[in-house]
Amino acid sequence: MNFYQHYNRLYASKDYRAEATVVLDLLTNGDGADCQRLLEVGCGTGSHSRAFAAHNISVTAVDTDEEMIASAQAAGPHDGVTFIAGPVEQLPPDQFDGAAAMFNVVNYVTDRTSLISMFQAVASHLHPASSFVFDCWNGVAALIDPPRNEVRDFLSDGWSYHVTMTAVTDPMRQLVEVSNEFDAEGPGGEAHHFSNRLIHRLWTPAELTDVAREAGFSSVHFMRWMVPGKQATAEDWKIMAVARRGAA
Ligand SMILES: C[S@@+](CC[C@H](N)C(=O)[O-])C[C@H]1O[C@@H](n2cnc3c(N)ncnc32)[C@H](O)[C@@H]1O
Repeated sequence: MNFYQHYNRLYASKDYRAEATVVLDLLTNGDGADCQRLLEVGCGTGSHSRAFAAHNISVTAVDTDEEMIASAQAAGPHDGVTFIAGPVEQLPPDQFDGAAAMFNVVNYVTDRTSLISMFQAVASHLHPASSFVFDCWNGVAALIDPPRNEVRDFLSDGWSYHVTMTAVTDPMRQLVEVSNEFDAEGPGGEAHHFSNRLIHRLWTPAELTDVAREAGFSSVHFMRWMVPGKQATAEDWKIMAVARRGAA
């Protein structure tokens, strides 16, 4: 078993349902009736996708990582969700009532040209005056207080995990390399060792606002992670944003 097969257990403590509710409230100003068709970028194994679809909306969920999409499709029934492997830039023309990219998807995009291209693709798939909600590491907070190495032990669905995370920050390039080593032991005593490595770009809210405006969004509002009523500050390491598409 590799990272993909363990993914849902590794993140089982993440409250996808609560996140989906907050995202939909942000997309509809609290009135869920307005968002019937949602575009999700960076759906991973589909946990947000299923949580969105549980609100009786249809979800088109894309991820560039084919193994993630395969896990999403294998994870069981997904009524209301269409999973597509590939970049949002390659989606056929369509119009959605809102878009979301959750769990640091924008940090995976490490150069400005690619980020503009992703935001433009999202904007071009949105009805005028609809919104794109995303969350991310706050580059300002992370550059002041860079991610630290960490060792975590936890249990999930009968498995025990020992995770060693090493983070190397390059502040001048606003990049962090995160390497995770996982030791997993299953209910029957089976042992797996696997690893993953990712590079995250530490985008600041000012940079994200510039990119969003260049891509066709008229405004971006940053708030504390899962506290939509509180404006984000330089100390908030994890933030979320609503980018409003300009009116037609
Ligand atoms: C941390 S995972 C989050 C997955 C899922 N949203 C979740 O919360 O479990 C980030 C995902 O974003 C995807 N991703 C990164 N850049 C992307 C892009 N430009 N378009 C689509 N997916 C992207 C990665 O492949 C990865 O699966």
